[in-house]
Amino acid sequence: MYGMSQATRVGIIGLGKYLPEKVLTNQDFEKMVETSDAWITERTGIKQRRIARPDQATSDLALAAAQEALAAAKITAADLDLIVVATVTPDTFFPSTACRLQGALGCRPIPAFDVSAACSGFLYALTIAQNFIKAGTVRRALVVAADKLSAIADYSDRNTCVLFGDGAGAAVLSAVDTGGILSSYLGTDGKQSELITMPAGGSRQPASHETVDKHLHYLHMNGAEVFKVAVKTMADAALEAMNTLGVHSAEEVDLIIPHQANIRIINAVAKRMGVSLAEGKVFLNIEKYGNMSAASTAVALAEAVQQGRVKKGDKVVMVAFGSGLTWGALVIELS
Ligand code: ACO
Repeated sequence: MYGMSQATRVGIIGLGKYLPEKVLTNQDFEKMVETSDAWITERTGIKQRRIARPDQATSDLALAAAQEALAAAKITAADLDLIVVATVTPDTFFPSTACRLQGALGCRPIPAFDVSAACSGFLYALTIAQNFIKAGTVRRALVVAADKLSAIADYSDRNTCVLFGDGAGAAVLSAVDTGGILSSYLGTDGKQSELITMPAGGSRQPASHETVDKHLHYLHMNGAEVFKVAVKTMADAALEAMNTLGVHSAEEVDLIIPHQANIRIINAVAKRMGVSLAEGKVFLNIEKYGNMSAASTAVALAEAVQQGRVKKGDKVVMVAFGSGLTWGALVIELS
């Protein structure tokens, strides 16, 4: 407890991102599985993705993004009071990736923990950090979304492997005078937990020769079913987060940042929100990076600010959906 007064507005004061150098193109996949650049481009919108080096774990990606965010916020690691990392590909089950990041940054002995909410993880982690600051127990929080999905992608399964990439995005949160996170809407449906899962390695199916032989330590997904639920859930979540603010039309927001899972999902979500992709109001980077789970929305927000697509005072709607099932939407006014 830092004995601070409760903050009413919590905003982002610095953003960062890290994308590994190695690029895996659709043409590369043509040599690995029965697929084509044309199929992947048309069905997903993805052209390439970044792949971490074998010696890079998720916390290494997180560290690089965090350093950029700290520099943008003009603070040092010593100024942080909390670290929350969203990931489904932790360096190890334990200790958490957040603990490893806390050590690598050289922070004071502040609380640090991971959040497991798959592709919605960045929005969950931002909401958690926001509430720590609102409660007055934390002054500055670092939120990082980092995933090395290449570590759990099955490169013999064309249904899934072409979709995923590695990356990290980071945000420094603090009390702010104007703007900030205006609303947050989070949800889950655990009855649909089998739609996207890494079946083995946990307490349900501990690692064995059999689980390795059956590829159960890789990501498994019912893509067609996920597609349908994703469209409805993301559009509904975004509208819920907007409606609580009395914002009933996408015309009243400056940018929509959806999770980058599939261009057709993004297109359908935008349509339900009354927006056409041609308007340029929906941020897209799926072509370059594929689906980086929680890191997708984090990297997209950092890029949107760094590219000048949004500026102070602009309203951004972030919306995501993923394994859990989990979903979330935030409306942020840039501070
Ligand atoms: N290349 C060529 N053909 C392929 C490929 C490929 N890479 N992948 C699948 N196909 C084939 C299938 O085998 C199938 O062939 P069949 O009809 O002979 O059986 C055919 O294409 C159609 O398959 P569908 O699954 O119906 O293809 P669809 O158009 O639904 O696209 C996709 C598949 C891209 C996976 C889509 O369903 C999707 O994006 N789903 C959502 C994924 C998502 O949002 N995940 C988010 C969460 S991830 C997380 O939480 C970490």
